[in-house]
Amino acid sequence: MKPYDIIHQSSIKRLPQKTTATAFAPTNIALIKYWGKRDASLNLPMTDSLSLTLPHHGTQTTLTCIDAADDRVLLNDKPVATNTPFYLKLVDFINLFRHSTERFLINTYNNIPTSAGLASSASGFAALTLALNDIYAWQLERRMLSMFSRFGSGSACRSFWEGFVLWQKGSHPYGLDSYGVPLELNFPSVKMGFQLIQSTEKSISSRDAMNITTRTSPLYAAWSDTVTLHLRQMKEALINQDFERLGEVAEHNALAMHATMQAAWPSICYALPETWVQMAKVRDLRKTGLLIFFTQDAGPNLKFIFQEKDQEKVKAHFPEMIMT
Ligand code: DP6
Repeated sequence: MKPYDIIHQSSIKRLPQKTTATAFAPTNIALIKYWGKRDASLNLPMTDSLSLTLPHHGTQTTLTCIDAADDRVLLNDKPVATNTPFYLKLVDFINLFRHSTERFLINTYNNIPTSAGLASSASGFAALTLALNDIYAWQLERRMLSMFSRFGSGSACRSFWEGFVLWQKGSHPYGLDSYGVPLELNFPSVKMGFQLIQSTEKSISSRDAMNITTRTSPLYAAWSDTVTLHLRQMKEALINQDFERLGEVAEHNALAMHATMQAAWPSICYALPETWVQMAKVRDLRKTGLLIFFTQDAGPNLKFIFQEKDQEKVKAHFPEMIMT
């Protein structure tokens, strides 16, 4: 079963019901990471993952019907060439849902750097799915949209809700139960900041890096049990409102993911020298009593995790940090 077959069966194929539609989706940062797929064509994960939504950072996408032979894509007002991976990924995704010859101008704005490990593809595919839902008037519930967005990028399925969201890996062979689920757990004092170390495109896409890791890393066999343990610890920390535990588990999970990919062959290392310097600074600050932790995704940049009451102190130590 391929994504196209699943969408075909859901009987949503129809012509656009309006000429333009706009949607915004926030980005999300995983505290317990998704790394590795049990089905690459359906983007089905090996494990559950858990994220925090950053409501003010994300992607706004406008779809407009155009009279043209091909779709046109604008990213932050700049035309995207039709032979780039970015263009092809968007158009392949829309092809899953397109009824016939309708073509779109896809105007997409990110207020976070694209492809720098800051989860722009998560908000990008979530926003595109919401805009498609609107222009085709599918009127689908968010759970279904979350599942569809997964075909574009796995982490997108967690971007449909605020707060803490669990992407349940599900057990259905075609992933019909693999989507985001908002957790009824609130911890409003948890804050995140982006520490930009490099804002250009990452050296290797998370998709390729995941595939190399699952195929070749001798440490990957331990990843699933590691995630199960970290998820249990993270949920306990959330229930107990235990910030220190939350930070420790998130940092440990990110380090375990990066160690697993460094053990792959060819080895994947997203960190730059400056990434290590900033990590050491975070650890040193912790020794002084400031509760600050980091997490890292598929890029050299770090996300800092701290409490609202410490925001000013953290900003003083990291003046370049972008608050979320
Ligand atoms: C490190 O969702 O970008 O950010 O499903 O192949 O598009 P694809 O991968 P993607 O991977 C995200 C990886 C991560 C961890 C996470 O967000 O859980």
